[in-house]
Amino acid sequence: MDHFLYRDGILHAEDVAIPDIAAAVGTPFYVYSTATLERHYRLFTEALSPLPHLVCFAVKSNSNLAVLKVLADLGAGMDVVSGGEYLRAKAAGVPGGRIVFSGVGKTREEMRLALQGGIRQFNVESEPELLALSEVALALDAVAPIAMRVNPDVDAKTHEKIATGRKENKFGIPIARAREVYALAARLPGIEVCAVDVHIGSQLTDLEPFEQAYLKVADLTRALRADGHAIRRLDLGGGLGIPYTRSNEAPPLPADYGALIKRTVGDLGCEIEIEPGRLISGNAGLLVAATIYVKQGEDRDFLILDAAMNDLVRPSMYGAHHDIVPVIEPAAATEGHPYDVVGPVCETGDTFARARPLPPVAAGDLIAFRSAGAYGAVMASEYNTRPLVPEVLVKGDHFAVIRARPTFDEILNRDSIPVWL
Ligand code: LLP
Repeated sequence: MDHFLYRDGILHAEDVAIPDIAAAVGTPFYVYSTATLERHYRLFTEALSPLPHLVCFAVKSNSNLAVLKVLADLGAGMDVVSGGEYLRAKAAGVPGGRIVFSGVGKTREEMRLALQGGIRQFNVESEPELLALSEVALALDAVAPIAMRVNPDVDAKTHEKIATGRKENKFGIPIARAREVYALAARLPGIEVCAVDVHIGSQLTDLEPFEQAYLKVADLTRALRADGHAIRRLDLGGGLGIPYTRSNEAPPLPADYGALIKRTVGDLGCEIEIEPGRLISGNAGLLVAATIYVKQGEDRDFLILDAAMNDLVRPSMYGAHHDIVPVIEPAAATEGHPYDVVGPVCETGDTFARARPLPPVAAGDLIAFRSAGAYGAVMASEYNTRPLVPEVLVKGDHFAVIRARPTFDEILNRDSIPVWL
């Protein structure tokens, strides 16, 4: 469920009409709904209660400071994967004690930054990283709290580019070697073992892979405790999928996921951490674009938008489907016409959809991509020197620009021409 609905024939974000935002900020733009973000966060906290838990929002899915602040104000933790994301979480008011640091290649500078600013836990993915972290912590006279991320060799049954829990993936340590690596961790003076971490992939639409992975984590936790490690927390990762089409997809709900967590690891007395990104932010955002031209090709019609693959890369990168809706509601009986929906970038990969049935569209018409709040703005680039599109946050009948569109001067001034040229 989200808060983007037609009202009097016009698509609204909560109580704000989309054309009003377009008139104020120009197109294309991302728009997010505060109510949807809050609702999705609460679904997770309700699903995990009464287990002690912390929902750590995966900042990579949407890292705008205002979005992070909405969640931080509700008590959310954050899952960060870079020094930059760590600084964003802090800037949004999240205390270090609610930030977990994930990622397969943390640098020593990033470790220092988090140790100095405060951190709940590092999710460590290799022995070399563990050794480096211990050294960095010792040099700061600190102790780094850690989970080892284990790779359970489970097939997440999702797109190959976002599956992370198979042994051939770069992530985590093989679960079979976990006891050995935890023994090493316990010997290192700069390390405090406190948790186990697992994350098997993203956009999972079936609970069964989670179940397999979490049962393996439960067994491992018992074994590690028998080895003398004080495992107080389990970080179960993110990955719960969302419906990208309104019609036929029904991925499991957070409540089902919570019940699964209770069934598989609920008896261990651990505090549960989860790292959802997409389920919180995905359906809380739209990308709104205007039609530049409707072009008749030899055998099809092209809808040429002012948004392109650099603004929303998921269709060209993963073949992902995003529902596309007109901002002005079509009359009920309107027949769909198939369009190839494309952007202005000079490659054929800049295609959002092929033969997508839409009500007849004319130049100037606004359209919206649904489910664009996660992995949308954060993956945007300035390819073709197209400015990053602005982001707007709506709450009730208010809206505010939460990231402005850069000017061409700002973009050009980031380059410099060497004096010897
Ligand atoms: N935790 C870790 C360690 C992760 O690597 C990820 C996502 C998450 C949590 C959050 O997963 P979520 O709940 O959002 O599924 N760009 C791709 C998705 C990449 C996901 C990477 N890791 C896409 O647009 O589909």
